[in-house]
Amino acid sequence: MSREIAEIRNELRSWTLVNPVETCVGYRSPSNIALLKYWGKRPYQMPVNPSLSFCLTKAITETRLSARFQTGFQGLSELNGDPEHPFLKKIKPFWEFLCHEIPLLQHTDLSINTHNSFPHGAGIASSASGFSALALAVLDLAQILSRRHLAQDEFLKYASYLARMGSGSASRSIYPAFNLWGASPDFAGSSDLFSIDVNDRIHPAFRNLQDAILLVSSREKSLSSTHGHALMQTHPFAEGRIQQARQHLQHLQQALPAGDWELLATVAEAEALSLHALIMSSSGGTILLEPASIELIQRIRHARTQGLQVFFTIDAGPNIHLIYPEIVRNEVNAFVRNNLQDICPENQVIFDSCGPGPEKLRDLP
Ligand code: PMV
Repeated sequence: MSREIAEIRNELRSWTLVNPVETCVGYRSPSNIALLKYWGKRPYQMPVNPSLSFCLTKAITETRLSARFQTGFQGLSELNGDPEHPFLKKIKPFWEFLCHEIPLLQHTDLSINTHNSFPHGAGIASSASGFSALALAVLDLAQILSRRHLAQDEFLKYASYLARMGSGSASRSIYPAFNLWGASPDFAGSSDLFSIDVNDRIHPAFRNLQDAILLVSSREKSLSSTHGHALMQTHPFAEGRIQQARQHLQHLQQALPAGDWELLATVAEAEALSLHALIMSSSGGTILLEPASIELIQRIRHARTQGLQVFFTIDAGPNIHLIYPEIVRNEVNAFVRNNLQDICPENQVIFDSCGPGPEKLRDLP
């Protein structure tokens, strides 16, 4: 039986630096796309409702860490070779949290090398893949430096717990394919602290869902997710939203194991539209959808009424994720080419699919 987070944390706090040698570790982690959305949080990065997503295959971050000891303690000293990299400031609070959780890290001088396979602003959450890869690599590094090891299930559970503190959705980029984050009475072992693997509840027809990301705009978002989550604290519809998410999870519990495409499509689209309705009705009234987003939504819905197995989902931005099962790939490719691509202002579509989750990198110096 996997131990509770508090017990694992106590063990990590007792790990000491017994192997202070120059060490390199690396992880490749995917981004994910949520069918049930996380929107709104309580202190310490706890979600106000459960969320469920699947990992992507091509949209990944590769992160390599090099730990040194000769130079004296410097903490996080550089990112991609740049000691002044603007992102260093952004991840400093996360690094402080990691040092608090794993005190032996306080003695390392760490440089980070990290690359995304997808362009910035592509409508793909780089925080999910980025913080997941960093959390996995740091935990692995701590094992090497201490010559101690967690059992594999505890390693993943704790990595999800750590990743969550960088970005909530990053906690769902830990297990292959489908991850659920947030406590729900119907999912044994589920927690607000970390994600769990829910692939045993997914019908074989849904295990290889495809995601064609229809790029409407690659401009910087006018609402960060941090700000959006914060706005939910005083949102007039917050209570209703929490109820709705719980109900949607119940519907997903029916649709996913049964392979019920219509129910899955209805719930996932309702989730995406709710997310945007919440954003629009938040203080400030932000509109992230563009005319092209709406046109794409309408064409996708029309295609479904014509019998094509497609639905859309949307993150906090204007880009549309077109989801479909692998068996209709050829038909959907034609649909994208003939009916959707011309609406995307730069004609850009990224074809991705449900993927195998993170992987440890072996090609290290
Ligand atoms: O992980 P964050 O704080 O960037 O929030 C992600 C929020 C959404 O992408 C809109 C929804 C989700 O569940 O991924």
